[in-house]
Amino acid sequence: MVQDFYARVRRDPLLGPRFAAVVEDWPAHEAKLTHFWWVSLGGPAYAPYRYRVADAHAAIGVRGEEIRHWLALFEDCLHAHLPSDLAAQWLARAQAMGRSLSLIAERAPC
Ligand code: HEM
Repeated sequence: MVQDFYARVRRDPLLGPRFAAVVEDWPAHEAKLTHFWWVSLGGPAYAPYRYRVADAHAAIGVRGEEIRHWLALFEDCLHAHLPSDLAAQWLARAQAMGRSLSLIAERAPC
């Protein structure tokens, strides 16, 4: 799911260039984000990653429109890989994060 999602992100005209400007090592990014979602959805940590989600996105200057688009792409990908009940649970978690990130986006000077 995570690998396919970032493959879709790389092909996406809006998000692709935004990620390309920051992510140099895609396998490392995917490994970190796989662990992130695994732990977010209740799995035990299996690697010593540290996350600074708000800071990372504030530094990128994410915009509300980009967050909505990210979530739509994520939802499509979830439904391509998972039964609808599992897709809905994972999506709810991503949407909650999207709401927090939107607050950062509104606060940004752009
Ligand atoms: C609800 C929407 C989103 C969620 C749940 C999400 C989640 C995450 C998480 C958990 C990380 C890891 C942060 C860390 O390493 O501390 C991350 C990194 C990243 N996100 Fe997002 N993200 C979202 C939207 C976006 C958008 C809209 C963009 C671009 C416009 C974006 C660009 C990035 C980039 C480039 C990184 C890598 C940052 C780095 O390695 O320094 N994200 N995201």
